Amino acid sequence: MNLRADWALERPGRNAGFALAPSRWIPSATGGTEKHVTVEGFNIPGCAGRLMLQDHLISAKQLTRTDIEAILDRAVEYADARGGGHENALLGLLFFEPSTRTKMSFDTAMKRLGGDTVDMGALESSSASKGESLADTVRVVAGYTDAIVLRHPSEGAAKLAAEFADIPVINAGDGAGQHPTQTLLDLFTIRESAGLEDLTVGIMGDLKYGRTVHSLAAALSKFGANQHFISPESLRLPRGVRYDLHEAGAQVREHTELEAVLPELDVLYVTRIQRERFPDEQEYRAIAGEYRIDEAALAKAKPALTLMHPLPRVDEIAAAVDELSHATYFQQAHNGVPVRMALLDTMLGADGGGR
Ligand code: NCD
Repeated sequence: MNLRADWALERPGRNAGFALAPSRWIPSATGGTEKHVTVEGFNIPGCAGRLMLQDHLISAKQLTRTDIEAILDRAVEYADARGGGHENALLGLLFFEPSTRTKMSFDTAMKRLGGDTVDMGALESSSASKGESLADTVRVVAGYTDAIVLRHPSEGAAKLAAEFADIPVINAGDGAGQHPTQTLLDLFTIRESAGLEDLTVGIMGDLKYGRTVHSLAAALSKFGANQHFISPESLRLPRGVRYDLHEAGAQVREHTELEAVLPELDVLYVTRIQRERFPDEQEYRAIAGEYRIDEAALAKAKPALTLMHPLPRVDEIAAAVDELSHATYFQQAHNGVPVRMALLDTMLGADGGGR
Protein backbone atom coordinates (compact mmCIF):
# COMPACT_ATOMS: atom_id res chain seq x y z
CA MET A 1 0.00 0.00 0.00
CA ASN A 2 1.76 3.14 -1.13
CA LEU A 3 0.18 6.31 0.16
CA ARG A 4 2.85 8.44 -1.55
CA ALA A 5 2.24 11.16 0.96
CA ASP A 6 5.74 12.51 1.40
CA TRP A 7 5.25 15.84 -0.29
CA ALA A 8 1.81 16.23 1.18
CA LEU A 9 3.25 16.27 4.65
CA GLU A 10 5.30 19.34 3.85
CA ARG A 11 2.35 21.13 2.26
CA PRO A 12 0.28 23.40 4.55
CA GLY A 13 -3.05 21.69 5.17
CA ARG A 14 -6.29 23.06 3.80
CA ASN A 15 -7.61 22.63 7.33
CA ALA A 16 -5.31 24.91 9.21
CA GLY A 17 -5.96 23.20 12.55
CA PHE A 18 -4.89 19.75 11.34
CA ALA A 19 -1.53 19.30 13.02
CA LEU A 20 0.10 16.41 11.20
CA ALA A 21 1.66 14.00 13.62
CA PRO A 22 5.29 12.98 13.23
CA SER A 23 5.47 10.45 10.43
CA ARG A 24 7.83 7.56 9.87
CA TRP A 25 8.91 5.42 6.96
CA ILE A 26 7.72 1.85 6.94
CA PRO A 27 8.17 -0.92 4.35
CA SER A 28 5.51 -0.80 1.65
CA ALA A 29 3.53 -3.88 0.61
CA THR A 30 4.58 -3.12 -2.98
CA GLY A 31 8.28 -2.85 -2.10
CA GLY A 32 10.24 0.25 -1.12
CA THR A 33 9.03 2.44 1.69
CA GLU A 34 6.00 4.52 2.46
CA LYS A 35 5.34 7.37 4.79
CA HIS A 36 3.11 6.33 7.67
CA VAL A 37 0.97 9.04 9.20
CA THR A 38 -0.71 8.45 12.53
CA VAL A 39 -3.65 10.19 14.10
CA GLU A 40 -1.88 10.58 17.42
CA GLY A 41 -2.02 14.14 18.65
CA PHE A 42 -4.88 14.92 16.31
CA ASN A 43 -6.23 18.25 17.35
CA ILE A 44 -8.52 20.75 15.74
CA PRO A 45 -8.67 23.73 18.06
CA GLY A 46 -11.86 25.72 18.12
CA CYS A 47 -13.82 23.42 15.85
CA ALA A 48 -16.67 22.76 18.27
CA GLY A 49 -20.01 23.63 16.77
CA ARG A 50 -18.43 24.40 13.39
CA LEU A 51 -16.78 21.16 12.46
CA MET A 52 -19.83 19.25 11.43
CA LEU A 53 -21.03 21.59 8.73
CA GLN A 54 -18.46 21.46 5.96
CA ASP A 55 -15.49 19.68 7.41
CA HIS A 56 -14.03 16.19 7.69
CA LEU A 57 -14.79 13.53 10.28
CA ILE A 58 -11.54 11.68 10.90
CA SER A 59 -11.46 10.87 14.61
CA ALA A 60 -13.94 10.62 17.48
CA LYS A 61 -11.53 12.89 19.33
CA GLN A 62 -12.78 15.75 17.17
CA LEU A 63 -16.33 15.44 18.42
CA THR A 64 -17.48 17.45 21.40
CA ARG A 65 -20.31 16.24 23.57
CA THR A 66 -22.47 18.95 21.98
CA ASP A 67 -21.61 17.73 18.44
CA ILE A 68 -22.49 14.17 19.43
CA GLU A 69 -25.76 15.09 21.11
CA ALA A 70 -26.83 17.18 18.12
CA ILE A 71 -26.28 14.26 15.74
CA LEU A 72 -28.00 11.76 18.02
CA ASP A 73 -30.99 14.09 18.40
CA ARG A 74 -31.24 14.44 14.66
CA ALA A 75 -30.92 10.66 14.24
CA VAL A 76 -34.04 10.22 16.40
CA GLU A 77 -35.94 12.20 13.75
CA TYR A 78 -34.67 9.74 11.13
CA ALA A 79 -35.58 6.63 13.12
CA ASP A 80 -38.20 5.67 10.54
CA ALA A 81 -35.45 6.01 7.86
CA ARG A 82 -37.47 8.59 5.92
CA GLY A 83 -35.60 11.66 4.83
CA GLY A 84 -35.11 13.71 1.70
CA GLY A 85 -33.68 17.16 1.13
CA HIS A 86 -30.44 16.00 -0.55
CA GLU A 87 -31.81 15.04 -3.95
CA ASN A 88 -28.74 16.21 -5.89
CA ALA A 89 -26.11 14.94 -3.48
CA LEU A 90 -23.64 12.22 -4.48
CA LEU A 91 -21.63 10.28 -1.93
CA GLY A 92 -18.38 8.55 -2.99
CA LEU A 93 -17.79 5.16 -1.35
CA LEU A 94 -14.09 4.25 -1.27
CA PHE A 95 -13.64 0.97 0.58
CA PHE A 96 -10.13 -0.49 0.42
CA GLU A 97 -11.08 -3.08 3.08
CA PRO A 98 -14.07 -5.40 3.38
CA SER A 99 -17.30 -3.95 4.77
CA THR A 100 -20.95 -4.96 4.95
CA ARG A 101 -22.67 -2.77 7.54
CA THR A 102 -20.71 0.44 7.21
CA LYS A 103 -20.82 0.56 3.43
CA MET A 104 -24.41 -0.60 3.06
CA SER A 105 -25.71 1.70 5.77
CA PHE A 106 -23.94 4.74 4.26
CA ASP A 107 -25.38 3.73 0.88
CA THR A 108 -28.85 3.34 2.38
CA ALA A 109 -28.56 6.58 4.36
CA MET A 110 -27.58 8.67 1.33
CA LYS A 111 -30.39 7.17 -0.75
CA ARG A 112 -32.94 7.64 2.04
CA LEU A 113 -31.95 11.31 2.08
CA GLY A 114 -32.85 11.48 -1.61
CA GLY A 115 -29.27 11.43 -2.92
CA ASP A 116 -27.20 8.72 -4.55
CA THR A 117 -23.84 6.98 -4.18
CA VAL A 118 -20.91 6.19 -6.46
CA ASP A 119 -18.95 3.15 -5.38
CA MET A 120 -15.30 2.50 -6.26
CA GLY A 121 -16.18 -1.18 -6.09
CA ALA A 122 -13.79 -3.98 -5.31
CA LEU A 123 -10.14 -3.10 -4.87
CA GLU A 124 -9.10 -5.51 -7.66
CA SER A 125 -11.27 -3.67 -10.19
CA SER A 126 -10.08 -0.18 -9.19
CA SER A 127 -7.01 1.79 -10.32
CA ALA A 128 -5.48 1.22 -6.89
CA SER A 129 -4.63 -2.25 -8.19
CA LYS A 130 -2.60 -0.54 -10.97
CA GLY A 131 -0.60 1.32 -8.33
CA GLU A 132 -2.55 4.58 -8.11
CA SER A 133 -1.86 6.49 -4.90
CA LEU A 134 -4.64 7.15 -2.42
CA ALA A 135 -4.02 10.88 -2.86
CA ASP A 136 -4.70 10.68 -6.61
CA THR A 137 -7.80 8.52 -6.19
CA VAL A 138 -9.21 10.95 -3.64
CA ARG A 139 -8.51 14.00 -5.81
CA VAL A 140 -10.32 12.39 -8.72
CA VAL A 141 -13.33 11.21 -6.74
CA ALA A 142 -13.61 14.61 -5.00
CA GLY A 143 -14.33 16.01 -8.46
CA TYR A 144 -17.25 13.61 -8.95
CA THR A 145 -18.99 13.69 -5.59
CA ASP A 146 -20.07 15.91 -2.68
CA ALA A 147 -18.52 13.86 0.14
CA ILE A 148 -16.30 10.80 0.44
CA VAL A 149 -16.57 7.87 2.81
CA LEU A 150 -13.20 6.14 3.09
CA ARG A 151 -12.16 2.84 4.64
CA HIS A 152 -8.52 1.92 4.35
CA PRO A 153 -6.11 -0.53 6.02
CA SER A 154 -3.54 2.16 6.88
CA GLU A 155 -3.88 4.18 10.05
CA GLY A 156 -3.87 7.86 9.10
CA ALA A 157 -5.28 7.28 5.60
CA ALA A 158 -8.46 9.31 6.18
CA LYS A 159 -6.49 12.22 7.52
CA LEU A 160 -4.24 12.08 4.49
CA ALA A 161 -7.26 11.91 2.17
CA ALA A 162 -8.69 15.00 3.85
CA GLU A 163 -5.59 16.91 2.82
CA PHE A 164 -6.38 16.23 -0.84
CA ALA A 165 -10.14 16.63 -0.87
CA ASP A 166 -12.00 19.92 -1.05
CA ILE A 167 -15.17 18.08 0.01
CA PRO A 168 -15.90 16.38 3.38
CA VAL A 169 -14.06 13.13 4.04
CA ILE A 170 -15.61 10.71 6.51
CA ASN A 171 -13.39 8.08 8.08
CA ALA A 172 -15.12 4.69 7.90
CA GLY A 173 -12.15 2.95 9.52
CA ASP A 174 -8.41 3.52 9.07
CA GLY A 175 -6.47 0.41 10.01
CA ALA A 176 -6.31 0.02 13.77
CA GLY A 177 -6.89 3.77 14.16
CA GLN A 178 -10.38 5.19 14.39
CA HIS A 179 -13.97 4.46 13.33
CA PRO A 180 -15.91 7.56 14.44
CA THR A 181 -19.21 6.87 12.68
CA GLN A 182 -19.43 3.47 14.38
CA THR A 183 -19.02 5.36 17.65
CA LEU A 184 -21.94 7.62 16.83
CA LEU A 185 -24.24 4.65 16.28
CA ASP A 186 -22.82 2.94 19.38
CA LEU A 187 -23.63 6.03 21.45
CA PHE A 188 -27.08 6.26 19.90
CA THR A 189 -27.69 2.64 20.91
CA ILE A 190 -26.39 3.21 24.44
CA ARG A 191 -28.48 6.35 24.85
CA GLU A 192 -31.62 4.44 23.80
CA SER A 193 -31.00 1.45 26.05
CA ALA A 194 -29.05 2.59 29.12
CA GLY A 195 -28.78 6.38 28.82
CA LEU A 196 -25.48 8.24 28.69
CA GLU A 197 -25.48 9.53 32.29
CA ASP A 198 -23.76 7.73 35.20
CA LEU A 199 -22.74 4.96 32.89
CA THR A 200 -20.43 2.03 33.58
CA VAL A 201 -19.20 0.34 30.40
CA GLY A 202 -17.04 -2.76 29.88
CA ILE A 203 -15.19 -3.03 26.58
CA MET A 204 -13.80 -6.49 25.94
CA GLY A 205 -11.73 -8.30 23.33
CA ASP A 206 -9.17 -6.86 20.94
CA LEU A 207 -8.44 -3.48 22.45
CA LYS A 208 -5.12 -3.17 20.68
CA TYR A 209 -6.24 -3.35 17.07
CA GLY A 210 -9.97 -2.61 17.48
CA ARG A 211 -10.59 0.83 15.97
CA THR A 212 -14.19 0.85 17.17
CA VAL A 213 -12.81 0.61 20.70
CA HIS A 214 -10.38 3.50 20.27
CA SER A 215 -13.12 5.78 18.98
CA LEU A 216 -15.74 4.69 21.51
CA ALA A 217 -13.38 5.13 24.46
CA ALA A 218 -12.53 8.68 23.37
CA ALA A 219 -16.21 9.59 23.05
CA LEU A 220 -17.28 7.92 26.32
CA SER A 221 -14.70 9.97 28.18
CA LYS A 222 -16.65 13.08 27.13
CA PHE A 223 -19.71 11.70 28.94
CA GLY A 224 -17.76 10.92 32.12
CA ALA A 225 -18.44 7.18 31.83
CA ASN A 226 -16.61 4.66 33.99
CA GLN A 227 -14.73 2.52 31.50
CA HIS A 228 -13.47 -1.00 32.17
CA PHE A 229 -11.22 -2.58 29.55
CA ILE A 230 -11.04 -6.37 29.55
CA SER A 231 -8.49 -8.16 27.39
CA PRO A 232 -5.51 -10.45 27.44
CA GLU A 233 -2.34 -8.60 28.36
CA SER A 234 -1.10 -8.74 24.74
CA LEU A 235 -4.22 -7.00 23.40
CA ARG A 236 -4.58 -4.21 25.93
CA LEU A 237 -5.25 -0.65 24.79
CA PRO A 238 -2.33 0.92 22.93
CA ARG A 239 -0.24 3.32 24.96
CA GLY A 240 -1.34 6.33 22.84
CA VAL A 241 -5.02 5.60 23.49
CA ARG A 242 -4.39 5.18 27.22
CA TYR A 243 -2.47 8.45 27.24
CA ASP A 244 -5.31 10.31 25.50
CA LEU A 245 -7.87 8.88 27.93
CA HIS A 246 -5.70 9.92 30.84
CA GLU A 247 -5.34 13.43 29.40
CA ALA A 248 -9.12 13.60 28.94
CA GLY A 249 -9.57 12.75 32.63
CA ALA A 250 -11.38 9.50 31.80
CA GLN A 251 -12.30 6.99 34.53
CA VAL A 252 -10.46 3.91 33.26
CA ARG A 253 -9.58 0.48 34.67
CA GLU A 254 -8.00 -2.48 32.94
CA HIS A 255 -8.68 -6.16 33.64
CA THR A 256 -7.75 -9.54 32.23
CA GLU A 257 -10.95 -11.23 33.48
CA LEU A 258 -14.57 -10.20 32.98
CA GLU A 259 -16.05 -12.01 35.97
CA ALA A 260 -15.19 -9.59 38.78
CA VAL A 261 -16.32 -6.47 36.97
CA LEU A 262 -19.39 -7.83 35.15
CA PRO A 263 -21.93 -7.17 37.96
CA GLU A 264 -21.12 -3.42 37.84
CA LEU A 265 -21.67 -2.99 34.09
CA ASP A 266 -24.58 -1.22 32.40
CA VAL A 267 -23.11 -1.99 28.98
CA LEU A 268 -20.78 -4.74 27.80
CA TYR A 269 -19.24 -4.03 24.38
CA VAL A 270 -17.63 -7.15 22.91
CA THR A 271 -15.25 -7.00 19.94
CA ARG A 272 -13.84 -9.43 17.42
CA ILE A 273 -10.15 -10.35 17.58
CA GLN A 274 -8.87 -8.48 14.49
CA ARG A 275 -7.20 -11.43 12.83
CA GLU A 276 -6.21 -9.45 9.72
CA ARG A 277 -4.07 -7.07 11.79
CA PHE A 278 -1.98 -9.72 13.56
CA PRO A 279 1.55 -9.84 12.17
CA ASP A 280 1.72 -13.49 13.23
CA GLU A 281 -1.11 -16.03 12.72
CA GLN A 282 0.21 -18.14 15.63
CA GLU A 283 -0.24 -15.20 17.96
CA TYR A 284 -3.85 -14.87 16.79
CA ARG A 285 -4.55 -18.57 17.33
CA ALA A 286 -3.20 -18.41 20.87
CA ILE A 287 -5.79 -15.79 21.79
CA ALA A 288 -8.82 -16.53 19.58
CA GLY A 289 -11.79 -17.91 21.48
CA GLU A 290 -10.45 -16.92 24.90
CA TYR A 291 -13.03 -14.24 25.66
CA ARG A 292 -16.33 -15.83 24.68
CA ILE A 293 -19.73 -14.79 25.99
CA ASP A 294 -22.37 -17.46 26.52
CA GLU A 295 -25.41 -17.63 28.80
CA ALA A 296 -23.35 -18.91 31.74
CA ALA A 297 -20.84 -16.06 31.38
CA LEU A 298 -23.70 -13.57 31.82
CA ALA A 299 -25.14 -15.19 34.96
CA LYS A 300 -23.90 -12.39 37.25
CA ALA A 301 -24.80 -9.53 34.90
CA LYS A 302 -27.35 -6.86 35.82
CA PRO A 303 -30.77 -7.82 34.39
CA ALA A 304 -30.70 -4.59 32.35
CA LEU A 305 -27.19 -5.12 30.93
CA THR A 306 -26.96 -3.97 27.31
CA LEU A 307 -24.78 -6.37 25.32
CA MET A 308 -23.24 -4.79 22.22
CA HIS A 309 -20.89 -5.80 19.40
CA PRO A 310 -19.98 -3.75 16.31
CA LEU A 311 -20.20 -6.95 14.23
CA PRO A 312 -19.14 -9.02 12.42
CA ARG A 313 -18.90 -11.57 15.23
CA VAL A 314 -16.89 -14.69 14.71
CA ASP A 315 -17.40 -16.71 17.89
CA GLU A 316 -17.19 -14.06 20.62
CA ILE A 317 -20.89 -14.32 21.45
CA ALA A 318 -22.69 -17.68 21.40
CA ALA A 319 -25.78 -17.79 19.16
CA ALA A 320 -27.97 -18.71 22.16
CA VAL A 321 -27.26 -15.28 23.65
CA ASP A 322 -29.14 -13.68 20.74
CA GLU A 323 -32.38 -14.73 22.43
CA LEU A 324 -31.60 -12.99 25.72
CA SER A 325 -32.96 -9.53 26.47
CA HIS A 326 -29.35 -8.28 26.81
CA ALA A 327 -28.61 -8.82 23.11
CA THR A 328 -28.65 -5.42 21.42
CA TYR A 329 -26.14 -5.91 18.58
CA PHE A 330 -28.60 -6.29 15.71
CA GLN A 331 -30.51 -3.20 16.80
CA GLN A 332 -27.12 -1.50 17.09
CA ALA A 333 -26.37 -2.35 13.43
CA HIS A 334 -29.81 -1.09 12.35
CA ASN A 335 -29.12 2.21 14.08
CA GLY A 336 -26.35 2.79 11.53
CA VAL A 337 -28.86 4.09 8.99
CA PRO A 338 -30.58 6.90 10.97
CA VAL A 339 -27.30 7.93 12.57
CA ARG A 340 -25.49 8.12 9.22
CA MET A 341 -28.48 9.97 7.75
CA ALA A 342 -28.14 12.54 10.53
CA LEU A 343 -24.39 12.80 10.00
CA LEU A 344 -24.64 13.20 6.22
CA ASP A 345 -27.44 15.72 6.56
CA THR A 346 -25.29 17.75 8.94
CA MET A 347 -22.07 17.50 6.92
CA LEU A 348 -23.63 18.16 3.54
CA GLY A 349 -25.16 21.35 4.87
CA ALA A 350 -28.37 23.23 4.47
CA ASP A 351 -28.04 23.66 0.68
CA GLY A 352 -28.57 19.91 0.25
CA GLY A 353 -24.98 19.21 -0.72
CA GLY A 354 -25.57 18.77 -4.44
CA ARG A 355 -23.66 20.57 -7.16
C1 NCD B 1 -15.85 -3.06 12.64
C2 NCD B 1 -14.66 -2.51 11.86
O1 NCD B 1 -14.65 -2.57 10.62
O2 NCD B 1 -13.77 -2.00 12.52
N1 NCD B 1 -16.93 -3.40 11.81
C3 NCD B 1 -17.89 -2.46 11.55
O3 NCD B 1 -17.65 -1.47 10.91
N2 NCD B 1 -19.10 -2.66 12.09
C4 NCD B 1 -15.49 -4.13 13.58
C5 NCD B 1 -14.75 -5.34 13.08
O4 NCD B 1 -14.45 -5.48 11.90
O5 NCD B 1 -14.47 -6.19 13.92
